[in-house]
Amino acid sequence: MARVFVTGGAGYIGSHVVKLLGEKGNEVMVYDNLSSGNAGSILYGRLVRGDILDFEKIKTAMEDFQPDAVMHFAAKIVVPESVREPLKYYENNTCGAVSVLKAMRECGVKKIIFSSTAAVYGQPEKMPITEDAPLEPVNPYGQSKAAVERILRDSCLAGDFGYVALRYFNVAGADPAGKIGETKKDATHLVTMCVRAACGKRDKLFVYGTDYTTPDGTCIRDYIHVMDLADAHMLALEYLLGGGKSDVFNCGYGQGYSVQQVVDTAKKVTGVDFPVEYAQRRPGDPPELVADSAKIKQKLGWQPRYDDLKFIIKTAWEWEKKYNS
Ligand SMILES: NC(=O)c1ccc[n+]([C@@H]2O[C@H](COP(=O)([O-])OP(=O)(O)OC[C@H]3O[C@@H](n4cnc5c(N)ncnc54)[C@H](O)[C@@H]3O)[C@@H](O)[C@H]2O)c1
Repeated sequence: MARVFVTGGAGYIGSHVVKLLGEKGNEVMVYDNLSSGNAGSILYGRLVRGDILDFEKIKTAMEDFQPDAVMHFAAKIVVPESVREPLKYYENNTCGAVSVLKAMRECGVKKIIFSSTAAVYGQPEKMPITEDAPLEPVNPYGQSKAAVERILRDSCLAGDFGYVALRYFNVAGADPAGKIGETKKDATHLVTMCVRAACGKRDKLFVYGTDYTTPDGTCIRDYIHVMDLADAHMLALEYLLGGGKSDVFNCGYGQGYSVQQVVDTAKKVTGVDFPVEYAQRRPGDPPELVADSAKIKQKLGWQPRYDDLKFIIKTAWEWEKKYNS
């Protein structure tokens, strides 16, 4: 069992990972400023409300908790907003990560699992994407995360830390036990927006761009269930604490679905023919992102349990029907 300090643990993904950490008997401290997170989603451990950019506060919390490892989820995540306000993203995501790493160094914490993203790849030539593809992000959000990966690599070379960077593809779905799920009112993820349109919490769903170079003209993404991603974090933790070398892993299923396919499936799963409006492309959206997930399966022994778009949508739908903010 380990003591894990979780930044951003009140957020969508962080709270699912905290649930699994707690169920497996680990000790958890969540450090979150609740800018987009929800204290009610934290099912295990203690919450310290603070900003990762507040160095003294995060250092004090870490000193107090004495973790074996840090999981760093805290970030701003909205791509179009990052295009409009890049400094906000570099400050929160890149400078914020430096603050977390400095606190770790001061407190003698040597292991970190970092939430990276498929956005670090930009618009790769080769599909599915392997981890050795060049990092050429096409938006400030992806840049702010790629910069953290470089900082981690350099700090690791300097002997400061061991790290695992997990490059998440499109995370979706909710806890199959129905205890937690996405709670952000302004969530921008496709599956959440579909099920919210289906239960009338949104008037309609917008599909951005129908003229991409894909079979139906809409963007293709690799949707991974949030609890499979949580499993990947458990394996990464075990790996690092067991002395595994710093490394980077894709987290996706290796299967792409177009936005239109997701919309059609969501209509079937929910039984609701919700309104859809087709709009212009958004800046910074690559046409296709699909993971090659061979490495994480091979090196960490990851075996997805929920690799099924209908199931992913069903868990999100069940959650959305019962959750009232
Ligand atoms: N959702 C996805 O599909 C996806 C895909 C790739 C990568 N990621 C990464 O996963 C991580 C979690 O994403 P999420 O979808 O759960 O987002 P989220 O917005 O639900 O969670 C982020 C959490 O971080 C907290 N936070 C943000 N800035 C903070 C700060 N300065 N100090 C303290 N707390 C702060 C928020 O309050 C929130 O609880 C992020 O790092 C994101 O970049 C997400």
